[in-house]
Amino acid sequence: MATKKKTSNLKKVSYFEYEAKVDKAYKELLESYREVKDSYTEMIFRFALVAEFKDEATGTHLVRIADYSTEIANGLGLSKKDTYHLRYASPMHDIGKLVIPDAILKKPGGLTPDEREIIKKHTTLGAKIFKGARSPLLKVSETISLTHHERYDGTGYPRGLRGKQIPLFGRIVALADVFDALTTKRPYKEAYDFDDAIEIVKSQNGKHFDPDVLKAFLKRLDRIKKIWRATKDIEAFITEM
Ligand SMILES: [Fe+2]
Ligand SMILES: [Fe+2]
Repeated sequence: MATKKKTSNLKKVSYFEYEAKVDKAYKELLESYREVKDSYTEMIFRFALVAEFKDEATGTHLVRIADYSTEIANGLGLSKKDTYHLRYASPMHDIGKLVIPDAILKKPGGLTPDEREIIKKHTTLGAKIFKGARSPLLKVSETISLTHHERYDGTGYPRGLRGKQIPLFGRIVALADVFDALTTKRPYKEAYDFDDAIEIVKSQNGKHFDPDVLKAFLKRLDRIKKIWRATKDIEAFITEM
């Protein structure tokens, strides 16, 4: 009886064809990964923008917070991964303001002591938004939301943590946030000049700010000034329009 010759369904491909196919698949996978990563970071930035609009600030504050924090991280020599997490989580620092009533947040004139206490809750409320998150980036966002108003000397809130008890990401964003607030015009105050703002933050060495973080910030002063200058130019352009 004649036996049927077995034929393979697999098309024979040369080693080079195989290598090209793997290379193409890898590039496609990398492209999809980048797209997901970009959409993810962009989404969380836009989420942070909602809280920022509520506070009558502009999105440029969030961009500068990310830029200043990145410079401090570079000055401290943090790893690429930590710097990435800090860069993308720092704009979320005030996300808890989403839950603070507008009647308090936008109240003209002074606040009562009770209202001030409610505003302080944006730290714990922000942390609550991220509680139980599994992604490392959102875990860092939780830490930053909770600790960006702590002060190195223990006089901050919500927990009055002292020194290195305050997580490093919180200590970094504390400086980035205050420096930006000082150099930015708000409805209730004028902006300090760059050099005056630097003197003010220096005077808070070991009080509001961690000396190591401040040292790293001052080490990157040229870059900090470039970031400050760039948004000054943008804001001048917007007001002239
Ligand atoms: Fe805050
Ligand atoms: Fe802020």
